[in-house]
Parts: sequence; C-alpha cells; structure tokens
Amino acid sequence: MTRGKFITIEGTEGAGKSTAINYIRSLLADLPGGVIFTREPGGTGIAEEIRKVLLYPASTEKMNPETELLLMFAGRAQHLNHCILPALQAGKWVVSDRFVDASYAYQGGGRGMPMQAIQALDKMIVGNHYPDLTLLLDVSAEQGFARTERRTSPRDRIEQEKLDFFVRVRQAYLERAKQDPTRIKVIDASKSLASVQAHIRDSLSVFLSSESS
Ligand SMILES: Nc1ncnc2c1ncn2[C@@H]1O[C@H](COP(=O)(O)OP(=O)(O)O)[C@@H](O)[C@H]1O
Ligand SMILES: [Mg+2]
Repeated sequence: MTRGKFITIEGTEGAGKSTAINYIRSLLADLPGGVIFTREPGGTGIAEEIRKVLLYPASTEKMNPETELLLMFAGRAQHLNHCILPALQAGKWVVSDRFVDASYAYQGGGRGMPMQAIQALDKMIVGNHYPDLTLLLDVSAEQGFARTERRTSPRDRIEQEKLDFFVRVRQAYLERAKQDPTRIKVIDASKSLASVQAHIRDSLSVFLSSESS
C-alpha cells in the first residue's frame, strides 16, 4: 500500500483557508485512494474536546500561554496518531486546516513563547511525520481581519486578539516558509479568489508531478 500524501493549509484568520480547502476538495475529488479533510485544533473526539478548552472565553478565565502551547500539542498528538497517520497508512491523502506550523506562528510569533520550547514539543509529538506540502495563504493582518468582519459567528478567544498579534503571527509564518521553501509554498492571498485558486492549482500540479517522477 502506497502511503498517502499529507497536505496542510496555513495562514492567519480570514486568509482564505476554508475557501481554499473547498477548492482543493474539488481538485482532489477523483484521487483513487480517497482523501480526508481535517482541522486543528481538533480532528478527533478528544482533540475536539481540547479545542473547546482552547477556545474557552478569555472573559471567563485567562489562559496561560504555556497552557495554550501544551494543549495545542496535546490535541496534535491525538490528531496525528488517531486520524492523520492511520489515514496515510491506508493510502488516503490528508488535507488539514492548520498543523504544526501554526504553533510556531501563533504560540511562537503571536504569544512570544520561546521557539526552542516549540521545537522540543515538535520533535516529541510530530517527529518526522511532517507534511509533504504546506500551502501558506499570506495576507496582511488588516486584510484578513476585514474578511472576517463579514462573519456572523462571534470571535473566539484567539480571534479576539488585536491586530499586532496577527502581524506577529504572519511574520512567524513567513519566517517558517523562508526556512523550508521546498515544503512551504507561499500563496499571495491578497489577490482575487480566481488568482488564489490558480496559484493553488499550480502548486498542487507541481507537487503531483514531482511526486510521480
Ligand atoms: N481571495 C479572496 N478574495 C476575497 N475574499 C476572499 C478570498 N478568499 C476568501 N475570501 C472570503 O474571506 C472570508 C474568509 O475566508 P475563509 O476561507 O473563511 O478564511 P479562513 O478560513 O482562513 O479564516 C470569506 O468570506 C471568504 O469568502
Ligand atoms: Mg477557516
């Protein structure tokens, strides 16, 4: 059985991750082994419970940045071992709305947690189970924010952060992309939907041809 491919979609709030995933769903609809779509935080029963704790309203009790970091990795351990890896081993492709790069961006860049602490957890929890391809939807914090204004659901604990938080998150994402340009493809998400979709389609076809050669 050929192992499936693992693709992650990253970016700040309103960058267009959910929109991109819907588009990828149509592009990968005919994959012979099948494809599953999942998300972080979350993706399994336990990890979705951890997600609820992670998004617990800040007005009720403030969450320590250490708590947030550890819960993100706790959820990821469940998600990886009980959803992602079994699917890949069964030959399915996995597309996840966020994964480990989000911890470097949000807990590292946004919250200012030491990158060495994140690297240590990454090594322990993710190890070599890294995505084969990551699409980073890059947009300014302001533009991302403006796009989420149209949402009807109230902002969750992390979405309630101020603009400068998302400026740091974006910088940390771009720094990750610079360090690992083969895996992480930056997509200019400030552009029209048609342009973003064309870029996603190109990145996926380059990836597919490099995988089959
Ligand atoms: N390239 C784009 N141009 C304009 N609007 C977009 C674009 N991509 C997404 N949107 C819109 O922006 C909003 C946020 O997109 P969404 O996919 O939910 O972002 P995310 O999942 O990254 O938070 C949605 O209303 C979506 O329709
Ligand atoms: Mg989304």
